[in-house]
Amino acid sequence: MWIIRGIFVGLILMMIIFVRGNEGQSYRSVGMKKLTWKTLIVDQNGHGNFSTIQAAIDSIPSNNRFWVSIHVKPGVYREKVKIPYDKPYIILKGQSKRTTKVVWDDHLTVAQSPTFTSSADNIVVKSITFVNSYNYPWNNGNPRVPAVAAMITGDKSSFYKCGFYGVQDTLWDDQGRHYYHRCTIQGAVDFIFGAAQSIFQGCSISVVGEALLPLGSTSFITAQGRTNPNDANGFVFKECNVFGSGSAFLGRPWRGYSRVIFYNSNFSNIINPNGWDPWHFVGQENQLTYAENGCYGPGADMSHRVEWEKKLSLNEIRQLTSLNFINGESWIQDQPY
Ligand SMILES: *[C@@H]1O[C@H](CO)[C@@H](O)[C@H](O)[C@H]1NC(C)=O
Ligand SMILES: *[C@@H]1O[C@H](CO)[C@@H](O)[C@H](O)[C@H]1NC(C)=O
Repeated sequence: MWIIRGIFVGLILMMIIFVRGNEGQSYRSVGMKKLTWKTLIVDQNGHGNFSTIQAAIDSIPSNNRFWVSIHVKPGVYREKVKIPYDKPYIILKGQSKRTTKVVWDDHLTVAQSPTFTSSADNIVVKSITFVNSYNYPWNNGNPRVPAVAAMITGDKSSFYKCGFYGVQDTLWDDQGRHYYHRCTIQGAVDFIFGAAQSIFQGCSISVVGEALLPLGSTSFITAQGRTNPNDANGFVFKECNVFGSGSAFLGRPWRGYSRVIFYNSNFSNIINPNGWDPWHFVGQENQLTYAENGCYGPGADMSHRVEWEKKLSLNEIRQLTSLNFINGESWIQDQPY
C-alpha cells in the first residue's frame, strides 16, 4: 500500500515539474516559466563544479535531452571549447561579455582554428566573449591569417550579448538556423562568413581597419556562402550598428548565390560608397542577393552603390527580416534561459 502510494505521489510530482517540449526536450517549469534541469558552475578559482568549461560539457551525457545550464564565473578561460554534435540542450552562460572570456590562438587551418565550436542543435550562449588571439590585438607581430573565434554548425542556436573577436574569419556562421541578439562581432576580413541562416538583431559590427596592411586596405564585413538559388540560408542584419576604422565593404560573395541584407541599421562613415564587392563572381552579380533597406547614418548613402545591388519588394523584405526567416517562432521561445 505504501509503495503504491509512493509511486502515485511520485508520478504526480513528475507531471508538475517534468515537461517534455517539442522533440522530446525536457525542462522544468514553474507556471509559464521554463527552467533548466540542472546547473553546473565553472569557476577557475575552484569554487564551482568544474574549473574548465570543457570539463563541464564533457560531464553531460551523449544524446542529452534535459536542458542543462553551465554558468561560467568571470575570468579569462584559456582553453578551446567544443560542444560536440551529440550534446544538445546546453545553455552556456557567462557573467557578462566583458568579464567572462574564452581565449585561444589556433590558426593552422580554418577548420581547426576556432576557439569555440558549437556543433549540437538547441544551444543557447549568453554573456560570453570568444577571442581568437592569434592576430588579436592586431599589433602583436603575427602575420595575418584566418583565425576563427567561433564556428557554429548546429541548428537552432541562439546567442545573447556575446562577443566575437578576431581579425580574419572571426565568426564562422557555418550552417543551421541561428539568432544573434545584442552581440558584438569584430574583425576586418570576411569576419562574418559561412552558409548559416541567421538573424543578427541589435548587434554591434566593429571593423578594425587598422589591422590591415598595407594601411588603407579595404575590409570586408561578410562573406556569405549560399551555393544554390533554392538554399534557405543568408545573413540578415536588423537594427545593427556598423562602425569602426578604415573603409569596409558590406560584403563579398564566398559562393555564387550569396545573400545578405542590412535592415534598419546604422552605418558610420566607414562604408565604401560602392557598398559591395563581386570578388570572384564578376559577370554573375545578378545571382547575388545583396540589399539594404531603411539604413541610416553617414555610411548609408546609396547613391554610389553597385548597380547590381538588389531592390527587394516590401514583401520580400518582410519575409527576410521577420523571425520567420529562421522559423524562429517555432524554437526561440522554446529555449529556457
Ligand atoms: C555543483 O556544486 C554545487 C555547490 O557546490 C553543489 O550543490 C552541486 O551538487 C554540484 N553539482 C554537481 C552536478 O556536481
Ligand atoms: C549611430 O552610430 C553612431 C556611431 O557610429 C552613434 O554615435 C549614433 O548614436 C548611432 N545612432 C543611433 C540612432 O543609434
